[in-house]
Amino acid sequence: MDQAKAQERVNELRDRLETYGYHYYVLDDPIVPDAEYDEKLSELLELEQQFPDLQTADSPTVRIGGEPLDAFVKVQHSIPMMSLGNAFHEQDLRDFDRRARQGAGKELDYVCELKIDGLAVSLTYENGRFVRGATRGDGTTGEDITNNLKTVGSIPLRLQEAVDIEVRGEVFMPERSFERLNEAKEQNGEAVFANPRNAAAGSLRQLDPKIAANRNLDIFTYAIAGDGGMNIDTHYKAVQYMKKLGFKTNPNSRRCRDIEEVIEFVNGWVEHRNSLPYEIDGIVVKVNSLEQQDELGFTAKSPRWAVAYKFPAEEKVTRLRDIILSVGRTGAVTPTAVLDAVQVAGTTVQRASLHNEDLIREKDIKIGDQVVVKKAGDIIPEIVRVLDDLRDGTEEEFSMPSTCPACGSELVHLEEEVALRCINPQCPAQIQEGLIHFVSRDAMDIDGLGEKVIQQLFSHNLVTGIADLYKLEREELLKLERMGEKSVQNLLDAVEASKANSLEKLVFGLGIRFVGAKAARTLAEEFRTMDNLRGTDTENLLAVNEIGDKMAEAVVRYFDMPEVNELVDELQHLGLNMEYTGPAKEEVSGNSQLSGKTIVLTGTMEQLTRNEAKEKIEALGGKVTGSVSRSTDIVVAGEDAGSKQSKAEELGVDIWDEAAFLREIDS
Ligand code: IVH
Repeated sequence: MDQAKAQERVNELRDRLETYGYHYYVLDDPIVPDAEYDEKLSELLELEQQFPDLQTADSPTVRIGGEPLDAFVKVQHSIPMMSLGNAFHEQDLRDFDRRARQGAGKELDYVCELKIDGLAVSLTYENGRFVRGATRGDGTTGEDITNNLKTVGSIPLRLQEAVDIEVRGEVFMPERSFERLNEAKEQNGEAVFANPRNAAAGSLRQLDPKIAANRNLDIFTYAIAGDGGMNIDTHYKAVQYMKKLGFKTNPNSRRCRDIEEVIEFVNGWVEHRNSLPYEIDGIVVKVNSLEQQDELGFTAKSPRWAVAYKFPAEEKVTRLRDIILSVGRTGAVTPTAVLDAVQVAGTTVQRASLHNEDLIREKDIKIGDQVVVKKAGDIIPEIVRVLDDLRDGTEEEFSMPSTCPACGSELVHLEEEVALRCINPQCPAQIQEGLIHFVSRDAMDIDGLGEKVIQQLFSHNLVTGIADLYKLEREELLKLERMGEKSVQNLLDAVEASKANSLEKLVFGLGIRFVGAKAARTLAEEFRTMDNLRGTDTENLLAVNEIGDKMAEAVVRYFDMPEVNELVDELQHLGLNMEYTGPAKEEVSGNSQLSGKTIVLTGTMEQLTRNEAKEKIEALGGKVTGSVSRSTDIVVAGEDAGSKQSKAEELGVDIWDEAAFLREIDS
């Protein structure tokens, strides 16, 4: 066969395979027997081997998986991949509806979609060809997983129109495939995946696309990024357009005229969520009109025109075996419940944080109790309550120790905190936790340096502080368990790469009290260089929008310490970038409603601990106090809020629920 003839046949085979694949994967409705597909695919493979010039990046043969990569390359999302605000109750949906109608100024209609429990990805097409696929990452920067995504049969490699378009969707593993994969893993004596979501994530994280190709992954696309200049005026039409282009979209969506119809749809799926061949964790409600979406806009983290209703958390009963203590990065000593393993919402739960002694008293938790557990926001295990009727008298009272379980120094209560703290700066547990924080994703983001490796480095005395991470040597690393040539090289490369990080990552990584990732970014944007930041004073800090008293004071106090300055000098000397290299500061519109307000927190929140809530309020310029009085502006009432809420009602103080609070701190 000559080249021209081969080209002709190759084109024909590709067209056919694409059509077969489309019917099989996208429409779930095959038009030829599997053997026919396989036969054509082998013929195409052979021709491409014989005439390598004819190979293309979008040939169906790429679906079997190309060469393994050494590492994933980071990609910047041209349009950020946001997440959604959550709704847990009918009331949250009504609140969302009210705000949306107020914001848009007229009546709205909605589209309800299933919230697929998988991994968000972004797919870029140029001229109708699939050129790049990326994970969500932190929303701004993800990883290029194009080769793995090409193995997902329902992701089209060529579209029906030669358009430039970027779409977003959720990659997931159908339950059947998940079960089969785990069966195979069990037979091979390998560790199984906890749930389909983890299995999908694990598969996409493989450097070898042949592995992903064997994992039967699937996708539903649910949005076009940007408006794409496509003259589409509603979300519903955008989804139909994606479908027309050849994307797989979920058939169970519905247009709803008002919030009552939305609630009806949601309740229907609360009943039927388990009847699908894949997992969903809620319903996404979106304002249909794209113009109204534009008008409503975004908060810092999520669109105001959409909300994710999360299905109620599953609750299970298990026994609390023991309460153990851990020392955090800031010295807080936290009690953790050790539970008899129990399956809750798809994963095995064996531990649950008890936060502090007050909470243990409040919930009257004793060692040996039968307890009800759930996962807050379906992620973090939590003890809901004790079944005290089931006590037999053998249960034991727990009390916090007076000394640090890691270093033995006296524990103290700082200010009005409920937490007990170890204030020894040399405490090994704190240093180790500090290192884990330093390398974490929102901080220096050093791949390959997870908790386990840090523990290993620490216990071998290879690292005793942050600076040591930048002095690691090959030979020493090679001596560690489970560290081969390749992982050592990857680790050293990642450490090296982290030196170039923009200033905010370092500022956050240092772990200054009250300075979260967002505040670190604000500080870096404002002060531009580490020297400016460490040379500044309280007044200058307070002049920055979003920086409150507590944080300003913490920053000044931090950089007053000689050992901190030595560390910063040393890091600079080791070649770490000390400047802000990110985009120029965005103007934040308007001030937070919390700024200058006196706020009382009561009850338990699903999404935040008391302290996290407090930090957020302070970062926004508000003040948190312990008791409700006439000078209180707002009471944020979580679940089971008691007397403080009644007091607030009595005094006519504004009461916010968790959802309202989250919206404000996100905006
Ligand atoms: S729309 C601006 N629609 O849920 C955000 N998301 O927190 C647009 N998800 O990261 C997201 N099914 O991974 C949307 N039908 C759906 C979805 C969906 C699942 C995921 C997605 C996103 C997260 C929202």
